[in-house]
Amino acid sequence: MSGIEGKDIREESTRLSEEEVPLKPGPMPGLPNEPVPQPAVPGVEPEPLTLPGLPAVADPEEADDSAENEGDPAAQLRELEQALPDGEGPNKPYRVAVFASGSGSNFQAMLDTARAGQLGAQIALLVSDKPQSKAVERARAAGVPVFVFTPKEYDSREAYERVILEELAKAKIDLIVLAGYMRLLTSVLVEPYMGRMINIHPSLLPSFPGKDAAGQAVAHGVRISGATVHFVDGGMDTGPIIAQRAVDVYPEDSAADLQLRIQDQERLLYPEVVSWFAAGRVKLDGRQVRLF
Ligand code: GRF
Repeated sequence: MSGIEGKDIREESTRLSEEEVPLKPGPMPGLPNEPVPQPAVPGVEPEPLTLPGLPAVADPEEADDSAENEGDPAAQLRELEQALPDGEGPNKPYRVAVFASGSGSNFQAMLDTARAGQLGAQIALLVSDKPQSKAVERARAAGVPVFVFTPKEYDSREAYERVILEELAKAKIDLIVLAGYMRLLTSVLVEPYMGRMINIHPSLLPSFPGKDAAGQAVAHGVRISGATVHFVDGGMDTGPIIAQRAVDVYPEDSAADLQLRIQDQERLLYPEVVSWFAAGRVKLDGRQVRLF
């Protein structure tokens, strides 16, 4: 789930232990279970990144740190990043911040993929609103810098997001990966990272956005569901789709059964998508995401 301010859309706690074994794991016969990005169209150069309802992300090469940046959150963020000391420069290595509130099994999958040398990126920061969460425990165990905050200590969402924004700038983050972050986002974070913030949702979007996606799928009686990685825009799970994986839904499934089966696929899909970003392979052309 991802979404921008408005109604209360905190997900219900459908989180399950990753130690549990799914009842009927595996791909649906005859259906592709590999991520299926849109192929590049030969000879067609993708347009600059633009997401619906929000401004295009400027090419960093063309950035100008003058007063023209006023009203341009992405440019302001670049200015802030450039003002901070860091011997590494802004993009080397490719730096990822993961936002998580709960178990952090997707986060762990990314750490494991990075450790295996297959992520092409450094997990440079974990952001969490839950100091006692398993995700924070995993980060500490892996030596990943953690920024934890307590929302009720701030006057507003915008107030804590401004602090997060500073932490992201200090860590020179290239990509924000939402992985079970149970808070609404405001434009304070979404706009500067437009095109550089992704989310994973446990359904085949656009079906079943919002909370309890697995429960919605079971209640609706669908026979296939899955996981979707998508860009975060100003809507609720509405951003352009980057990749999906399908899983079976069986008549006897509970929401919990389905959630487990989907999460097995998420842990394969999400690190792979992050590796595409790190390799500079993802381009957005309108709503079409193309992999080069
Ligand atoms: C995942 O199922 C993801 O789809 C949803 O939140 C869950 C996070 O699980 N957005 P975990 O914390 O990574 O185990």
